[in-house]
Amino acid sequence: MEGKLVFAVNGKRFELAEVDPSTSLLEFLRTRTRFTGPKLGCGEGGCGACVVLLSTYDPVSDQVKDFSVSSCLTLLCSINLCSVTTTEGLGNSRDGFHPIHQRFTGFHASQCGFCTPGMCMSLFSALTNADKTNRPEPPNGLSKITKLEAEKAIAGNLCRCTGYRPIADVCRSFAADVDLEDLGLNTFWKKGEDAIVSKLPSHNRGKICTFPDFLKSVVKTSLDTLMNGNNTNFLESQWYRPTSFEGLYQVLNSNAFIGSRTKLVVGNTGSGVYKENNLYDKYIDLKGIPELSVIKRDHTGISFGAAVTISRAIEMLKENADSVPSAEKMVFNKIADHLDKVASPFVRNMASLGGNLIMAQKYQFASDVTTILLAAGSTVCVWTASDRRILSLEDFLGWPPLDEKTILVSILIPSISMVELSYGTDQHSVSSHRSESNIIFETYRAAPRPLGNAVSYLNSAFLAHVSSDKITGNTVLLYLHLAFGAYGTEHAIRARKVEKFLVGKELEVSVLLEAIKLLKETIIPKQGTPHSSYRSSLAVAFLFKFLQPLSKDLAVHENNYHDNASGVAVITEHPNENFNRHSDLSHHEASNSELFNSSCVLLSSNQMIQYGKEYHPVGVPIKKVGAEIQTSGEAIYVDDIPSPKDCLYGAFVYSTHPLARIESIKFNPTLASEKIITYIGVNDIPPGGKNVGSGTMFGTEPLFADSLTECAGQPLGLVVAETQRYANMAAKQANVQYSTENLEAPILTVEDAVRRLSFFDIPPFLYPQNVGNLSEGMTEAEHKILSAEVKLGSQYYFYMETQTALAIPDEDNCIVVYSSTQCPETAQGLIAQCLGIPDHNVRVITRRVGGGFGGKAVRAIPVATACALAAYKLQRPVRMYLDRQTDMVMTGGRHPMKINYSVGFKSDGKITALHIDLLINAGITKDVSPSIPYSVVGTLRKYNWGALSFDIKVCRTNLSSKSAMRAPGEAQGSFIAETVIEHVAAFLSMDANLVRNKNLHTYKSIKMFYGSSAGETPEYTLPAIVDELISSTSYFNRLAMVRHFNFCNKWRKRGISWVPIVHQVTLRPTPGKVSILNDSSIVVEVGGIELGQGLWTKVKQITAFGLGQLLEGGSQKLLDRVRIIQADTLSLIQGGWTAGSTTSESSCEAVRLSCSILVDRLKSLKQSLEEKTSSVSWETLISQASMQGVNLSASTYWVPGTDSMQYLNYGAATSEVEVDIATGATTIIRSDLIYDCGQSLNPAVDMGQVYSAD
Ligand SMILES: Cc1cc2nc3c(=O)[nH]c(=O)nc-3n(C[C@H](O)[C@H](O)[C@H](O)COP(=O)(O)OP(=O)(O)OC[C@H]3O[C@@H](n4cnc5c(N)ncnc54)[C@H](O)[C@@H]3O)c2cc1C
Ligand code: FES
Ligand code: FES
Repeated sequence: MEGKLVFAVNGKRFELAEVDPSTSLLEFLRTRTRFTGPKLGCGEGGCGACVVLLSTYDPVSDQVKDFSVSSCLTLLCSINLCSVTTTEGLGNSRDGFHPIHQRFTGFHASQCGFCTPGMCMSLFSALTNADKTNRPEPPNGLSKITKLEAEKAIAGNLCRCTGYRPIADVCRSFAADVDLEDLGLNTFWKKGEDAIVSKLPSHNRGKICTFPDFLKSVVKTSLDTLMNGNNTNFLESQWYRPTSFEGLYQVLNSNAFIGSRTKLVVGNTGSGVYKENNLYDKYIDLKGIPELSVIKRDHTGISFGAAVTISRAIEMLKENADSVPSAEKMVFNKIADHLDKVASPFVRNMASLGGNLIMAQKYQFASDVTTILLAAGSTVCVWTASDRRILSLEDFLGWPPLDEKTILVSILIPSISMVELSYGTDQHSVSSHRSESNIIFETYRAAPRPLGNAVSYLNSAFLAHVSSDKITGNTVLLYLHLAFGAYGTEHAIRARKVEKFLVGKELEVSVLLEAIKLLKETIIPKQGTPHSSYRSSLAVAFLFKFLQPLSKDLAVHENNYHDNASGVAVITEHPNENFNRHSDLSHHEASNSELFNSSCVLLSSNQMIQYGKEYHPVGVPIKKVGAEIQTSGEAIYVDDIPSPKDCLYGAFVYSTHPLARIESIKFNPTLASEKIITYIGVNDIPPGGKNVGSGTMFGTEPLFADSLTECAGQPLGLVVAETQRYANMAAKQANVQYSTENLEAPILTVEDAVRRLSFFDIPPFLYPQNVGNLSEGMTEAEHKILSAEVKLGSQYYFYMETQTALAIPDEDNCIVVYSSTQCPETAQGLIAQCLGIPDHNVRVITRRVGGGFGGKAVRAIPVATACALAAYKLQRPVRMYLDRQTDMVMTGGRHPMKINYSVGFKSDGKITALHIDLLINAGITKDVSPSIPYSVVGTLRKYNWGALSFDIKVCRTNLSSKSAMRAPGEAQGSFIAETVIEHVAAFLSMDANLVRNKNLHTYKSIKMFYGSSAGETPEYTLPAIVDELISSTSYFNRLAMVRHFNFCNKWRKRGISWVPIVHQVTLRPTPGKVSILNDSSIVVEVGGIELGQGLWTKVKQITAFGLGQLLEGGSQKLLDRVRIIQADTLSLIQGGWTAGSTTSESSCEAVRLSCSILVDRLKSLKQSLEEKTSSVSWETLISQASMQGVNLSASTYWVPGTDSMQYLNYGAATSEVEVDIATGATTIIRSDLIYDCGQSLNPAVDMGQVYSAD
């Protein structure tokens, strides 16, 4: 097999003699096999969409190892002789779905489904490995996995739509220790029925073969080659896998390597952190050198070869023999616990310890590994071109960045006895007036997310040998290691000055204060580090948390306060036993790690669903349409459509300047640039066409900047290449010359915009109306707050599927565009304008979208238009799938705002007048921005402000265009309203919840604020909702408990609050079409797009209900006959936008009306048939209708009536939250939400939408 790459995917053999060695496993799977289950979400190891199971075989022990990996970072050449299992390998629609697939579907755990295949594989990996353990046999149908392990199995797998509770339910449903009653809504049992394992699709251990026999034979025959120490080089010597250091240096020093771009790799996960924008000539895989994988344990400590993965290191650190001293066990266990928080299982399974240390040493990576190993007193062994050296990790980090020929060989974590030896402070040397000598080791990290894949703001680890003075009772530090890292420093450091100061001193308050002062002088982030002062304060917080329990004077008798199962607060006093208290109190991270380490991540939940039979099957929580094929990877998203013959790939070159003239665009002479086939720019727009990329009712925007770029992120042109990766890399090689000569400074803030009068018009019909008389309201007020300011930032959509399109030229000057868009109709019109062809020449097709959240409404269109232009010009198919960075830069996100408010109120909290000055940052184009004021004020009106007035400006700035983003304007409006309430409450020293209550609308006032949308008196349900919320959640009891908790605890504080919401629903005209085919199956088209929100499921239910009117009890039977098909702009016109949370409702109404037309057409035929036979089946009815020439297709364009076009929705929610005062970490303890959604069309779908938004 020398020179060839051999591996298996889902049991199928692959043998490759030629492959670009920079190809990732994901790229190979997605472009060269039929398997599309593994998805590209981030390309950085950060989302888990691409997770697959990788299996290796050891012919000596005849053992198979199975582990999850992120296939986006795994290089194809590094999986030689491995087996890959994707979600397709577990099961499918033809051969039967796997129980994991079935449970994901049954627990309603897949919405858009883009994340689901990766989730399935992470869970499969965890189950497979748990089942290999020698734990007791689990009950039939379950796995040996524990509940906690099951929940952790998906740590690092992101889901943007579903919310993690249903997903965690799926995981827990396999656990040996699960209580099935705890699991949420599912299709396996109804509420009230017995929850028993036999109702779940049974877990069949070992049913899936992860390593096929043929590959075992290949591995066995290849063993000889490896044993003989031969280099295993593939693919025309671009991939080297030396099997010794001599071999490595031979390769490195050979002529072939002089002047070439060479990369040393182990797991290649570093490329997830440092993106590669250029290609390499050659790769050297270090994993073939046995010494780099050796793990040794003796009295000196535990030594890891540099290529040992973090997962393997965790396993080894936790494997402690009884003979290992307890202090050492404790240190090793804590290191393992911390390593468990690095990245995610699927990254740790490939990531090496050595790779991590090298990234920290060479590239200043904010490593956790380095910091904790530094505190443990580790040493490293390095092999330079001239010699092999052992040195302390601290010295190693301080070296200049290593050259390419210096190899890290191993890392030694010393035993405690070795550390003691270096200080001469073993137990025997503790002086006679000291007692209770003890070793303490703690690690800390603060990160944006607690559960995986978030690099720290700051991490630290402290090792101390402490003793207490018999006479004074004070703690004395005999030696101390204080390591800090990731705070915006070159590499992790030891705070030597602080250590020196503290050692030998008794830990009194004054000493601690001085130590903190010294620490503040030490931990100084480099200039420009984000959150710089937070990071410095974290260092102090962590040191304080470490030392506080040791100090007699500082022992605050912090009470540990638990809510026991009965909801009664239990308070446990901790005795002032300094060292013991340490383990209880100091292990608080700036994260939810306490919850994560407790018996389960998610607390229990309860769902009650009631539905009537009147509209059956509408209202039934049936499983989501397409969920199974989403789990098995068979569901086709735009990027899963196989590339047509001769397909090319595009990548945007975008501006990095907010306002400049473009002088020239050239490409750096690199390997990546050589891949460019052509460049498409503004001059390639055909005659008759226009430079139009996107647009709304407010106007269009250019596709490409012409000679002037007006914002960073504006597309300048499109690089076209033979693969997406080549196009992406080549686009990054663009060298754009800008000139700002004679140009004014860009407008970057709303303040700049005001100064320069840079505004977009708001059409009068969208400018909200004031309510009441402001000056009267202000006069009535007893207190006033004038000109208070709030600023709100932007937000990115974070759909898992980035923007994508595929354009295929068609006959007669036509073009077909597959686009992941929320509004194909608008895309169609704009593409036609750009190409200068009629709309009927453009067919835009959208089947499903991997999450939209508003970001695929207007912002998807430039991608579709650019692909269409390139395809039209080149007369070849062109597709594009934006890399995550480009997507984040180009798609503007939520509108930032600046708010100034003045509010008048009485002493009892009643607000009498509110004035808002609102500046909305719209970015460079109008997009939907002129409608944002309407949405902001729509939500702001949720309280009775007495009088409400505003002055709103939509500012045009040189930022990327801001667009609709999940609850656009409404999220901000609600935030502003609550800020005002909190401010008033703080002013009056009142409970904010009393102020809320005081200003809740009456029916009279809501009518005044919302006009006819408020409906009739009984429709105003908000006060009843709030009452229900307060009583059903024991709000006042819990408030008392929160106060008690805060009284008892100094460093952790809790708060509880409730907020109301009023949402103004606006329905839009929507088409629907229902057709019955000759075999009596039904096909339905709607204007709306399935974005994961369950539109198709509801439409299917309403179709079955609508046509079911023809059959006695027939709706249920019809359900399985209904298929909803993709949106196609030439098949169903006027599809409109899928936005505003109304598309399901209005599409259902259009379909119901279409069904009614068909029912009317078929009713008389049915009656006449019934006169002949007593019962008429659906099949007979349709075949007879077909023969008699009945038109079996009906469509409707539903236009809402003036009375139903707008109405109000009400809801209210409470949340109880805990804040760690020292670190700012917050934990949501409990949330309750009541939402009046009338009668739910499908409660499982609707609840899924609520979970995903929480
Ligand atoms: C999504 C994600 C999240 C992460 N989160 C964290 C985190 O929270 N905390 C943390 O500490 N780390 C984190 N990491 C970093 C991760 O631990 C490292 O990427 C990983 O350990 C690198 O190992 P590797 O084998 O993949 O190295 P590779 O990517 O193969 O190599 C990395 C670099 O080291 C060089 N190299 C590797 N081994 C050697 C050697 N023996 N001698 C000389 N040079 C060598 C390579 O040439 C390359 O330059 C994260 C990574 C990702 C992708
Ligand atoms: S982790 Fe691989 S695509 Fe996100
Ligand atoms: S279902 Fe998880 S990202 Fe959409």
